[in-house]
Amino acid sequence: MTTETLFSISVQPGQPMVGIEFEGEHFRVPAGISVAAALLSFGHGAFRTSIVGSVPRAPYCMMGVCFECLVEIDGTPARQGCMTPVRDGMIIRRQSGAPSLAALGSGEVQ
Ligand code: FES
Repeated sequence: MTTETLFSISVQPGQPMVGIEFEGEHFRVPAGISVAAALLSFGHGAFRTSIVGSVPRAPYCMMGVCFECLVEIDGTPARQGCMTPVRDGMIIRRQSGAPSLAALGSGEVQ
């Protein structure tokens, strides 16, 4: 399944923008949209790999139910991309398999 043509973002003149980084790529996106919407609009479909089998997974529900959109945000794993608004300077990484318990215990998981 491709997600490249399913999502696009229209930017209005004067709309506030923020800069985010995903896997070393830098993007300017409208402030307030979700991480998942931002990444999908740039053609990034696979946000993580499954714990069993390392199968690429992509956002599905976009409303916080399926947990297919988990990414690492600013060093904190298992963040729901569809429920997290972008923030200027945010650094996002793909999540591979299960996050370590030490990373989850950092106190940043919400
Ligand atoms: S896409 Fe389903 S929880 Fe984020």
